[in-house]
Amino acid sequence: MIQNLLNLERYAQIARQTVAESCVLLRNENDTLPLKEGDKVAVFGRCAFHYYKSGLGSGGLVNTRYVVSILDALRACESIALEESLLHIYEQWIEKNPIDEGHGWGTVPWSQKEMPLSDDIVRAGKAADVAIIIIGRTAGEDQDNKKEEGSYLLTQIEEEMISEVCKEFKRTVVLLNVGNILDMSWVEAYKPSAVMYVWQGGQEGGNGVLDVLTGKVNPCGKLTDTIAYHIEDYPSSGYFGDKKKNYYKEDIYVGYRYFETCAKDKVQFPFGFGLSYTKFDILARVKEVTKDEIRVSVKITNTGKAAGKEVIQVYVEAPQGELGKPKRVLAGFEKSGVILPGKIEELTVNCQKSYFASYDDAGITGNKSCLLLEEGEYQIYVGSDVRTAVYCGSFRQTAEVLEQLEEACAPIEAFERYKAVKIENGSYRIKMEPVPLRTISPIDKIDRFRENEIPYIGNQGYYLGDVFDGKIAMNQFVAQLSDVDLMCIFRGEGMCSSKVTPGTAGAFGGLTERLRKLGIPVVCCADGPSGIRMDCGTKAFSLPNGTALGCTYNLALVNELFRMVGLEMRRYKIDTLLGPGINIHRNPLNGRNFEYISEDPVLTGNMCVAQLNGMHEAGVTGTIKHFCANNQEQERCSVEAVVSERALREIYLKGFEIAVKEGNAKSIMTTYGPVNGIWTAGNFDLCTSILRKDWGYRGIVMTDWWGTANWEGEIAEKNNRAPMVIAQNDIYMCCADTRDEMDKDNVKIKLQSGEIKRCDLQRSAKNILNFIMESPAMLRELCRTDEEESWETKQDDFEPDEICYFDIDRTTGKIIIDRQNMDFSGSEINFGIITTASRPYNLSIEAKSNLGELAQLPVSIYMDNIYRGEITFQGTGGECVYKAIPLGNIIGKNHYIKLTLRGKGLDINRIVISEEG
Ligand code: BGC
Repeated sequence: MIQNLLNLERYAQIARQTVAESCVLLRNENDTLPLKEGDKVAVFGRCAFHYYKSGLGSGGLVNTRYVVSILDALRACESIALEESLLHIYEQWIEKNPIDEGHGWGTVPWSQKEMPLSDDIVRAGKAADVAIIIIGRTAGEDQDNKKEEGSYLLTQIEEEMISEVCKEFKRTVVLLNVGNILDMSWVEAYKPSAVMYVWQGGQEGGNGVLDVLTGKVNPCGKLTDTIAYHIEDYPSSGYFGDKKKNYYKEDIYVGYRYFETCAKDKVQFPFGFGLSYTKFDILARVKEVTKDEIRVSVKITNTGKAAGKEVIQVYVEAPQGELGKPKRVLAGFEKSGVILPGKIEELTVNCQKSYFASYDDAGITGNKSCLLLEEGEYQIYVGSDVRTAVYCGSFRQTAEVLEQLEEACAPIEAFERYKAVKIENGSYRIKMEPVPLRTISPIDKIDRFRENEIPYIGNQGYYLGDVFDGKIAMNQFVAQLSDVDLMCIFRGEGMCSSKVTPGTAGAFGGLTERLRKLGIPVVCCADGPSGIRMDCGTKAFSLPNGTALGCTYNLALVNELFRMVGLEMRRYKIDTLLGPGINIHRNPLNGRNFEYISEDPVLTGNMCVAQLNGMHEAGVTGTIKHFCANNQEQERCSVEAVVSERALREIYLKGFEIAVKEGNAKSIMTTYGPVNGIWTAGNFDLCTSILRKDWGYRGIVMTDWWGTANWEGEIAEKNNRAPMVIAQNDIYMCCADTRDEMDKDNVKIKLQSGEIKRCDLQRSAKNILNFIMESPAMLRELCRTDEEESWETKQDDFEPDEICYFDIDRTTGKIIIDRQNMDFSGSEINFGIITTASRPYNLSIEAKSNLGELAQLPVSIYMDNIYRGEITFQGTGGECVYKAIPLGNIIGKNHYIKLTLRGKGLDINRIVISEEG
């Protein structure tokens, strides 16, 4: 049985190990860490009492069974003692200065007011051997980081705290419980003796960090981003944050690709960097160069005193050729096992040539639109970060086209981009060059990708199971689908559809009675990526965030963690997780970097493959997102990425390509916004030319929630879903009821007018049905699964002692509860109802919210402690809206109703219980 394989203890152990391996130690003077047996520790910083397990938004709403904070873990550790009097001072202060929770989705402050330190307070910790300072930041959707105190910068009080503590203590450890890198100038200013990024580690976060602090695990995490001295130093900083358009002028020179080429002195901590409690000697040589790969053999000797793991990183310096190249490109990496002091491990790193090949979007090499290797000497560097990697051999390469592709997604607007050019002294400087513009319109390609229409033959009694069992061909099955069926299967439902696991983000597939009768099951998808989100309160495991996963550089470990996630998904009948998030960390200020992995696409792609492999081993999958260039949260629905084809192919699409080609990705989510003038959800070149033709993708594409599309030259509109159908963005996510949308969007009209064709809808239907046949939903449909058959509702809460009961009005058949007779301000609303006869009732809520329309504001409804359903409001721009759900037949008179509101920002005006009909 599947559920027996999900062992929560093992899950926790793997998550703890992942957290420990993700910690990146940046500084450790005089062996400040690990803590020593018997050390007395003074903990500073209010975030000790407010551990950030993850960021916010869809990726952060996991209901956990428990969360172990760093302080919890330190308190439970017997080999050290804590300065409790200091902690007591914090507790008293926090009582008077509670956490500011903001007012809902996209508005939560990213940091909390810190307690100013007085001499007395510092003295309260003075007897300790070591001071640990915890700095925390959340991150999230709909909001970017800013170069402001409390966001990317430390606040003055935080700086003063570090400064004071560093003056008083010899051993001071600063731990950064953050989603994303921060400004680190304070390290040079106050020189704390140890500094470590511990990221947002999910529910086992504190335990994992403790293992590193005590030396049980030797730190072996490495940065997945470059940390520059100033935010302005990042090549994208001048072209980030615009509300309408960001020109990606830095082109392929993202992160270390830029810094190592022409701005080495701007780097405070290089890409790939991370210290250990021991020392390793790395000896590498190029063992073999084949047509497709370089194989580098590495001998790692632990020359220090502690056992530990090391990450081997292989970088390639390609000849500048015609195109110009970064001085270093990560071509492969491997993590060793635990190496004992004095011992050696030998390993081989295989590096695919396609990882460092270039895309010629200008035709300057004579091979336009090709992925190619230019002729010349390719030098290989190996080490444990990009800066210290040393030369270990080279090979000569003749000019070679690896893939002949076709121009796609090229910009239509003229702008200039970076090109690094070598100057006399051998160093490089940036020159601007014009970006090649589009020469082929995607409209001219559409017909080439159309298949013949399958004539409609009506219901012949074939089930999808017949295709699954090989009895009939897919086309025979699809011939039974009417236009209405095809339009219904194109539209998914959510949030919290009653047709799938309660509280999840969406459903698609057999959503109507007709489709169900044909044996098409309903597929369930849930956020992702840092654990399963079920808004009705069902508990799930909360995972370390995407950046933390990346910092482990441990593919096997991440694979195993996601096998567990996969098993958990099986348990909850979730077929695809809405993750991993694999956008590139283009700029440190992007609000969702915490969900994503790195500034490097090869690391991102390989980490994504590890996650997909894990879920695939459990029979489920992930929906990789957001396709593509989702690099800014501010104005995310409309801000345009203006970017060269070369940067798309080499940087922003590369991780997706690796996930498709090496990870058998089966499901992809497009973004909210446009790339080069075309919103991605209706972007034919992206979803068909590149994804399906060039990469051979066979899976499904879905929009982001309530995504929009445009006709080129116009701006995106809500009801314009026809471009999605043409682009082969197979599923619009999401509507309340697919049938109700028939006249709300333009699919039917455009089908009638011939602008979209039946064969377009059939093509998407086939993509969806093929996906379904590979998912556990199909096995459930055919009763061939051994998953646990029921999931548990939250049974363990009871009616509170005193609740107010409301009587039904016998003439109207309604109970109306409004602000005058009830307080709606809390996160839980409890009341009782006294009804009359046994009949079906509805519960409706009138509410408003000042938040933006993509805010997700779920309300779970329980009757007599049994979950009855979910109503998800979106931001309403201050307008009152009504939403209702059926409560079902109410038998008996008195009932206890509970509403739980997740997150702030929903203003309930009135609740009505009424007889149905
Ligand atoms: C996010 C997606 C998420 C979806 C469903 C959107 O706001 O951008 O990443 O999967 O909501 O919750």
